[in-house]
Amino acid sequence: AWDGPTVDVLSPVMLRQSDGTLERPVIGSYPVTTDTQALEALDAAVTAYNNGRGEWPTMSVADRISCMQNFVGRMIEQKEQVVNLLMWEIGKTLADSTKEFDRTVQYIYDTIDALKDVDRAGSRFEITEGIIGQIRRSPLGVVLCMGPFNYPLNETYTTLIPAILMGNTILFKPPKHGTLLHYPLLEAFRSCFPAGVVNTIYGRGASVVPALMQSGKINVLTLIGSSRVADSLKKMHPKSNRLRAVLGLDAKNAAVVLPDADLDLTVKECILGTLSFNGQRCTAIKIIWVHRSVADAFLEKFSEAVNELKFGMPWEKGTNITPLPEPQKPDYLTECIADAKAQGARVVNAGGGTGAGSLFYPAVVYPVAEGMKLYREEQFGPVVPIVPFNDVEQPIEYIISSDHGQQVSLFGSDPDELARLIDPLVNQVSRVNLNAQCQRGPDTFPFTGRKDSAEGTLSVEDALRAFSIRTVVATKD
Ligand code: G3H
Repeated sequence: AWDGPTVDVLSPVMLRQSDGTLERPVIGSYPVTTDTQALEALDAAVTAYNNGRGEWPTMSVADRISCMQNFVGRMIEQKEQVVNLLMWEIGKTLADSTKEFDRTVQYIYDTIDALKDVDRAGSRFEITEGIIGQIRRSPLGVVLCMGPFNYPLNETYTTLIPAILMGNTILFKPPKHGTLLHYPLLEAFRSCFPAGVVNTIYGRGASVVPALMQSGKINVLTLIGSSRVADSLKKMHPKSNRLRAVLGLDAKNAAVVLPDADLDLTVKECILGTLSFNGQRCTAIKIIWVHRSVADAFLEKFSEAVNELKFGMPWEKGTNITPLPEPQKPDYLTECIADAKAQGARVVNAGGGTGAGSLFYPAVVYPVAEGMKLYREEQFGPVVPIVPFNDVEQPIEYIISSDHGQQVSLFGSDPDELARLIDPLVNQVSRVNLNAQCQRGPDTFPFTGRKDSAEGTLSVEDALRAFSIRTVVATKD
């Protein structure tokens, strides 16, 4: 029950009105959390943690796991509703929404299993230099957890679940596109965990989060979003240099197509890499470098494959491209294309970059060059910049000089040449994909990035480490 002001949530899916116009329907609303309410939620988390003496941080690992097992059972009961909301709220296809739900459930099971190992490790004793040490993992305090709109369930839970399991208490702000789908799950959190373990605030991060950061009571900031927002939030904390931050940030992942690449395979992987969920993945390939000797052939095959993608409603079978949830995104993408065209590039595929409202047909832009927005900016949408190169040192230099360092995809047939390129690249990014698209999954792989792309590592085991500290109980032998 909520008496205060609310924000209407508009679906990206446009419905035809009786007068023939297309409109985004209101599909629900969320409360506007005021500073006072945000601070009350913070106090609830602080009280539940009670300086490490609360019920949750002192509960045995086995009992915490049992609460989480109850939660995941309740979560599975809500699958249909959550998947439906994923489609309506962020326009993700039925297949991808279902996959996001299922992989998140699996992530929770994997994290529970990993925690059992951590707990077993803590029950073992190490004897060194006459000292017996029991090495445990203990919680850090209050975690502020903010997830992204593109994977509002999976990426959010990638931080939320390990943070809870390690005994921390949580302040959770769902993404503003992707709030409603959390409602049924928040109810499950309330019934499966002690009061004050998970506390929710709503609204734009810029308006509700500053007061929390300035309070100095947040011990861990976790955000999957932009480095600009993360940097400004960190600075607000009075002890920012002691704040732990677990961040998944910007990326401009490059694919590099070498002269001997298998073009059919490369096109297939690059389509997945650039346009799955309309290119709205932090792990998407956001620029393709193609050796000039195969550029024409690649462009032809790639544009053909783009034009075969089915534009449709998220629930329609076979849909690949769906409406965009961020209202300002089509204008931004149009501006990027205009900027590239003004500097000599063209849209290669017929109809690319057209659309209305939230509908935006994918555009392949060629030849993209330094100085164009699409060369360095993270477009996070269905526009694919392609850059020709003569010497592989050009894309390598581009990757080295980038502010980002998440992933790279290399396409080529010569194992020696691929091997030669891997070593310099693993010192620039956190994952090199060989003849495969960039992607985070499987979720058990370490997920991180260098430079402005991440802070800390997320995955099952790494995330448990990220939200805890190793402590020692020592006695003399
Ligand atoms: O946006 C980031 C997601 O975690 C991407 O996950 O690459 O496995 O689809 P994925």
